[in-house]
Amino acid sequence: MKRLFVANWKMNSTRAQARLYARVLGERMGVSSGDVELVVAPPFTAFEETRDPEGRWALAAQNVSSHREGPFTGEISAKMLAEAGCRYVLVGHSERRHLFGEHPPTLAAKIARVREAGLLPIYCLGETEEERITGREEQVLASQVATLEHDAGGPLVIAYEPVWAIGTGRAATPADAAQAREILQGLLSGRRDVRILYGGSVTAVNAQALLQGSGMDGFLIGGASLDPSGFASIAGLP
Ligand code: 13P
Repeated sequence: MKRLFVANWKMNSTRAQARLYARVLGERMGVSSGDVELVVAPPFTAFEETRDPEGRWALAAQNVSSHREGPFTGEISAKMLAEAGCRYVLVGHSERRHLFGEHPPTLAAKIARVREAGLLPIYCLGETEEERITGREEQVLASQVATLEHDAGGPLVIAYEPVWAIGTGRAATPADAAQAREILQGLLSGRRDVRILYGGSVTAVNAQALLQGSGMDGFLIGGASLDPSGFASIAGLP
C-alpha cells in the first residue's frame, strides 16, 4: 500500500492562498506523485482552489455532519462533500473532540455518513498527556477504536495523534509512535485495508526518522503542511 501524507490546514488559508499553494505544490511534484499518496484538507471555502486538475493529490474535508440532511444550520453533509470532489474526511480530530465536545456516538454517526457517501474516513485518535502519564494509553486507544465497532468496513485510515504532541513542537519519539502502532494493529487485527498514520509536530526535520523508526504508513500534518514545499519534503518528494 502507498504511504499517505495528509495536510490538515485547520482554520487557515484564504482562497487566494490556496490557489498559490496548489500552484507551488504542483510545480514541486512534477508529473506524478510517484509512489506516495498526497491529500490536502483545506477549509470548505477553498476546495475549488485546492483541487488539482491533474489529480496528483486528493481532497479531504476537516469535518462533516453526523446528519444526512435537513434543518442543521451551519452543517455540511457527506453527500455535499462528495459532490465537491472530496475523497477523504477527517473524523474524531482531537480539536473536534476537545474543543467542540464531539463524543463517540456522534463520531460513529459521522463515519456512517462518510461511508454512505462513498468517502473514506481518516479516523483520528490519541491519548492526552495525563492519560499517558497515568498509564492509560492502551485503554484509551481501545475505547477510541471501539467507536468503529459498527463501521460497515472498507478501506480505513487511522491517524494516531497524541494530544500532547499536537501543535506543541514536541513530537512523539519514533519508539513511542511504534508502540502506539503496535497497540492499534492489535486492536484492528480483524480488519483489512487499514493504514495507520502518525500526527503531532511532524516537520521536514523529524519526518524521516519518525517514519523509519515507527513503521507508520504516513503522516497527518498540521502546521508544517501550510508550506507546500515543506509538505512535499515531508512526503519525501525530490
Ligand atoms: P501539528 O502538525 O501542527 O502538530 O498538528 C497536528 C494535527 O493536529 C494534524 O491534524
